[in-house]
Amino acid sequence: MNETLERWQSRRAFILAVTGAAVGLGNIWRFPYMTGENGGSAFLLLYIVFVLLLGLPMMMAEIMIGRAGRRSPMQALAYLAAEASVSPRWRWVGLFGAVTVFFILSFYSVVSGWSIEYLVDAVNGSFVDRSPQQIGASFDAFLADPLRMTFNHTLFMLLTMSVVAAGVANGLEKLNNVMMPLLYLILLVLGGYAVTTAGFGEAMRWLFTPNLAAIDWSVVLNAMGHAFFTLAVGACALMAYGAYMPDDQSLPRAVFAVALLDIAVALLSGIAIFSVVFTHGMDPTEGPGLMFVTLPIAFSELPGGQVWLGAFFLLLLVATWTSSINLAEPMVAMLVAAGWRRGRAAALVGALVWGVGLLSVLSFSTLAEVHWIGEMNFFALVSTIPPDIFLPVGGLLIAIFAAWRMPVEAAASAFGGSPAGFRLWQILVRFVSIPLTAVVLLSGLL
Ligand code: TRP
Repeated sequence: MNETLERWQSRRAFILAVTGAAVGLGNIWRFPYMTGENGGSAFLLLYIVFVLLLGLPMMMAEIMIGRAGRRSPMQALAYLAAEASVSPRWRWVGLFGAVTVFFILSFYSVVSGWSIEYLVDAVNGSFVDRSPQQIGASFDAFLADPLRMTFNHTLFMLLTMSVVAAGVANGLEKLNNVMMPLLYLILLVLGGYAVTTAGFGEAMRWLFTPNLAAIDWSVVLNAMGHAFFTLAVGACALMAYGAYMPDDQSLPRAVFAVALLDIAVALLSGIAIFSVVFTHGMDPTEGPGLMFVTLPIAFSELPGGQVWLGAFFLLLLVATWTSSINLAEPMVAMLVAAGWRRGRAAALVGALVWGVGLLSVLSFSTLAEVHWIGEMNFFALVSTIPPDIFLPVGGLLIAIFAAWRMPVEAAASAFGGSPAGFRLWQILVRFVSIPLTAVVLLSGLL
């Protein structure tokens, strides 16, 4: 299989595509509820440390492999393994990544469907003059309605796969370019609103007062998994994007900005959401519904709130769309590399992911009490194990390959920064990121 000739149209396009992959439900929906369930400031602190020490260096590792291999993930790994005369079995890391993104996309699409529902509701003015209790009750009623959920899930999968079928480097960046700054703007407005609420002080204390007593291994493990999830690292999805990266671009500079932005978006949405939680005496451990209940309440108190709310869900939808396209890309790229036509590959992947997603849809009604492992129903299972365990395992393997196995010259040139920067990266990955990930995984699992 030959090198791919596809490239992002510009340097900016690559950064936008990676930002699009990184910023999504992870920041705005998953981060707040995970923080709520894992002790607040303890989780937040660990998450930031892990993003900087593990996520960021491993993100570089992953993109470097794609960029040096210039092929779909499995083939890039096979090609570089052959160059370095190491085991061809490294290519299975690509397959493991495909399995991981498969399950992640299956629930990601369902939750993104919730944004579609809320966008329509906001436009229809369904939240006007509603009490917090009524807003909570209407979310519960929606979850209990598998048909409505399936409709939105289907629509979202169609949106995602139609772009993937056309090829990623094909203009989606332009949409991103306009929409993402608007999303940040609305989040800033929300942050400004949060400052005026009665619960703001408590939210800030809860998020930022160090609370080391709340840390146990499961909190550490969850925070690590979330750092991978939010940066889109560990499943070879960014590796697929790296294959299209222009030759003359510095990787560290590109991804550092992405990571900082990713943290900033998560913090802003956390501050906004927890201010509402504490203002209204709600429960921070409420779980996956947290954002969908708190934000309509927040917006309903802002002047012109319905317009803001509609705009917010529209932009959130775009953010999740660019993330889900990234989730789908490695699977489709692999089929294309195996000789499939892109359109057919996208249709097959889309159909399979959609089907498995139905189990997540039903996890809020018919299958709610069907437990797979411990107390976890299907949705709980796929929204926990692939992000919190599969991604770190995948990231660990990717990092070992990039730092210890692939030819060093190829790695250095794919890194694209200064030689000293490369050396720093190498030391960080070899002696910090890899051992730390391994220790957390083992301790968290045993
Ligand atoms: N980072 C995205 C978010 O925070 C989710 C995501 C996109 C992802 N691509 C990925 C997660 C690849 C893991 C692997 O919403």
